[in-house]
Amino acid sequence: MLPTGRAGMSQANDKRIVVMTGATSGIGANAALRIAAQPNIRLIIGARGGHPGPQGAEVVPLDLASLASVRTFASEVKGSLGGAQIDMLVLNAGVQTTDAAKRTIDGFEVTFAVNHLAHYLLARLLVSSMSDGGRLIITTSDTHDPAIFSGAPKILDPEALAHPDRNKTGVRFSAYPASKLCDLLTARSFAALSEVQPPRITAIAYNPGLTLGTGLSRDAPRFLRVLMRGLIPLIGIFKPQFRSGSPERAGEALAQLTLGEVKLPAGRVYASLVRGNLTFPDPSPLAQSNDARDQLWRESAAMVGLA
Ligand SMILES: NC(=O)c1ccc[n+]([C@@H]2O[C@H](COP(=O)([O-])OP(=O)(O)OC[C@H]3O[C@@H](n4cnc5c(N)ncnc54)[C@H](OP(=O)(O)O)[C@@H]3O)[C@@H](O)[C@H]2O)c1
Repeated sequence: MLPTGRAGMSQANDKRIVVMTGATSGIGANAALRIAAQPNIRLIIGARGGHPGPQGAEVVPLDLASLASVRTFASEVKGSLGGAQIDMLVLNAGVQTTDAAKRTIDGFEVTFAVNHLAHYLLARLLVSSMSDGGRLIITTSDTHDPAIFSGAPKILDPEALAHPDRNKTGVRFSAYPASKLCDLLTARSFAALSEVQPPRITAIAYNPGLTLGTGLSRDAPRFLRVLMRGLIPLIGIFKPQFRSGSPERAGEALAQLTLGEVKLPAGRVYASLVRGNLTFPDPSPLAQSNDARDQLWRESAAMVGLA
């Protein structure tokens, strides 16, 4: 149970409140360490298991593979605010499953459900509790872009992503980049749709770039993990998009965006870490499509039971 915040206090005199997923490992753990080390920060982490989080953080149970858990987490966080508001909402958790047959308790394909649907619901439930000038950061990936990764989606079909044909070849490699396209489109929705009052909140889709040494491919078969660790640095010699950055720098950039130490140019949503530097390129043409953005918003709302 979280302590209750002090109702009626001016947030300017109180702590800045950060709510974060994916803070227990890899890029997010590095970012959380930096965020927790700031003065006047209250860091609330949603996590599975008994992870203690960085010193000073409050850990609240959250399993993104369950929409009921997302709802319970959101209401516990809201209940603890006591009149204060969330300044930064960081949706960084992610999985890269290679088993297309795997389903969550709600019946959705796991990668789509954890990376996109759960975060979509969480953001919808918490956005009304965010402060003016707040920041919503969703971690995406440049693998959403066919110009970078040939397995990236060229069309958007949310229903097919939610319930893919278990026997269709290639699904296990396409689910991850498709989920990251959904993250990008969701960030664009929050930046643009009237129902979230766009001037109030800055929405950012953050691509940390290829980062070896995190837990992301932990579900992949051992031979594939060993192959990737050996092969990717070799490919990187010839293809720049396969050059890995470090979890420390990727976490630092996530913390910089969260804390507002790095700001996006006006009108931009996508921040991409390229060889250690934050850049602000256009995402893929499909990620820029307003039809795809609005379709995903509508169909995701129906899937999670929101109007
Ligand atoms: N590494 C890369 O090359 C790369 C490139 C582009 C984008 N990204 C993105 O960066 C983000 C962080 O990934 P990473 O590489 O740092 O991987 P990671 O080390 O595996 O971290 C993933 C985080 O997500 C959490 N998580 C996973 N499933 C969850 C669930 N069901 N409920 C709650 N939390 C869950 C994990 O919690 P546990 O500790 O409980 O497992 C962990 O904190 C992801 O969104 C990923 O897609 C990574």
